Amino acid sequence: MTPIVLTPSDRVLIIGATGFVGARLIPELVKKNIKLRLLVRDLAKVAPLIPKGSDIEVVQGDLVANTGLAESLRGIHTAYYLVHSMGGKTLFKNEEYANKDRMAAKTFMAAAESAGLERIIYLGGLGETGDNLSEHLRSRAEIAAILSSGTPKATILRAAIIIGARGASYEMLRYLVERLPIMITPKWVEMRIQPIAIRDVLEYLIGCLLNAETAGQEFDIGGPDIFTYVEMMQQYAEARGLAKRFIVRVPVLTPMLSAYWVDLVTPIPSGIAHPLIEGLRNEVVCKDSRIDQFVPITKTPFKDAVLTAFSEELDGPGITGF
Ligand SMILES: NC(=O)c1ccc[n+]([C@@H]2O[C@H](COP(=O)([O-])OP(=O)(O)OC[C@H]3O[C@@H](n4cnc5c(N)ncnc54)[C@H](OP(=O)(O)O)[C@@H]3O)[C@@H](O)[C@H]2O)c1
Repeated sequence: MTPIVLTPSDRVLIIGATGFVGARLIPELVKKNIKLRLLVRDLAKVAPLIPKGSDIEVVQGDLVANTGLAESLRGIHTAYYLVHSMGGKTLFKNEEYANKDRMAAKTFMAAAESAGLERIIYLGGLGETGDNLSEHLRSRAEIAAILSSGTPKATILRAAIIIGARGASYEMLRYLVERLPIMITPKWVEMRIQPIAIRDVLEYLIGCLLNAETAGQEFDIGGPDIFTYVEMMQQYAEARGLAKRFIVRVPVLTPMLSAYWVDLVTPIPSGIAHPLIEGLRNEVVCKDSRIDQFVPITKTPFKDAVLTAFSEELDGPGITGF
């Protein structure tokens, strides 16, 4: 296979540029002098994300409505696919997110095929290859399969909770630990998880773009620490200098009840909390470290990632954009 090498004249597309990961990827790619195009639904959201003097084109469009795709893909070498429809304010409104994500990925693939796109880089969820998957992880796995099914070579990265200000899962962790010295939790808090710093995720996303050998491959990515959820909460408290949290496991607490409870005690709506909590019943730990051969990085310890994320919060604990 001929490696698909990125040249300085190639332009890279980011879909999901206004999201938690996408918005942070923009300035990092600009620093590497990579020319960008962004497909966004809301032009007002993207304006503050564009660094002054950068070579960035913006196309307005929507994957589900199938608008703007052909224009956004014209002449593009690689597309980052960082799209997620999750985020309904209530559980009821959120029921359809898997359908929307499926429709978005299929529409994108059809357009990518006709545009002759060479590469796709997708960030999905760790643990999605196991059994008994939550709806959230099943949906993420389905998107990976759709994106890998065409002519463009897909690189699939899989991560567990990403530690960074404004990441939905991280914000849920932050609010719970910051606000509640005593917590009641479902029994899943004994499952293992391998969190990763947003800085490390960005290094992997960019490293894969720059290393053509990663095209057509799948990688698990994770930080240097593996904890149970309960340990992760205690480690967060320790990093922040908070007293040890008192955690009471209640076996009968369902994901739905937990989501309503999170909605009540934090600003995270139940529509976001529910799929995330449901996903916690799956162990999310890297199966291997193959990525190290292709993109070697210095992994950020969990506590350092927490302190960086905390210092980046614009408003301090208690207020977010949710
Ligand atoms: N956050 C984590 O902890 C985490 C952990 C592991 C894996 N991941 C994966 O990383 C990827 C990015 O996640 P994220 O946390 O950055 O998500 P996010 O903050 O929810 O961002 C999602 C992005 O998708 C865009 N989008 C949604 N529907 C769209 C549509 N129909 N057409 C065009 N754009 C659309 C959103 O645009 P709008 O701004 O217009 O809504 C937004 O830019 C996802 O695949 C996720 O599974 C995230």
